[in-house]
Amino acid sequence: MDGDVDALLAEQRDYYRAAAAEYDRPYERVEELRDLLAFVDELPVIGDVLELACGTGQWTARLAERARSVTAVDAAAEVLALARVRTESPTVRFLEADLFEWQPPRRYDTVFFAFWLSHVPPSRFADFWSTVAAALAPGGKAIFIDDGPAAVAATEEEVLANLPVPAALRRLDDGSQYRIVKVFHDVRTLTDDLTALGWSVRIRPVAWNFIGIAEPPTAVG
Ligand SMILES: C[S@@+](CC[C@H](N)C(=O)[O-])C[C@H]1O[C@@H](n2cnc3c(N)ncnc32)[C@H](O)[C@@H]1O
Repeated sequence: MDGDVDALLAEQRDYYRAAAAEYDRPYERVEELRDLLAFVDELPVIGDVLELACGTGQWTARLAERARSVTAVDAAAEVLALARVRTESPTVRFLEADLFEWQPPRRYDTVFFAFWLSHVPPSRFADFWSTVAAALAPGGKAIFIDDGPAAVAATEEEVLANLPVPAALRRLDDGSQYRIVKVFHDVRTLTDDLTALGWSVRIRPVAWNFIGIAEPPTAVG
């Protein structure tokens, strides 16, 4: 089972490496996604920010406008190359790393991740949130944005059954196909799951997405 999940996570990394040149299309085509980007200005993005799975940097420059510094991490060199071009800021540092192995070497005031939580397998959920908690300075917050269950229909996602984790099929222009982990978190269940881990969390639905702000268990920090 763990081997199956590891294989899927490797395929997911391969997908985003191969998809880099096609990645930005939804941001050009989908109005709701562009509207979502504007929400950054309403969020408590402060101080030194750690952005997980930054992709092509759609959020990075916006974070940089509000932050003292941004450390943006992603596993795919191909998307990081695009993010570097998009984000010309002396306060942004990009880092190539696998988030299932990387441990932040310091603490941050804000940990931000957009469309990443849905790619974390349920079996890694608690460990992932422990890593986020350990990355937060006292008083720091995690801010996360992702797809809720309504995104399946809205984005015509091809959900795959009979895999050890919730998954979807993605297709590229060259006809290649990749399986990725895709968990469409329901706001209420996600709130309960995070509360059970000791987080204080508020999540609000926005179109078929959600935006969450969470403070870690007090024992950490
Ligand atoms: C859906 S994209 C989100 C990108 C960006 N945050 C956004 O909202 O546009 C998911 C990102 O996760 C990255 N990724 C996939 N597996 C990863 C891993 N194991 N460690 C770090 N990043 C990973 C991909 O390269 C991709 O850029």
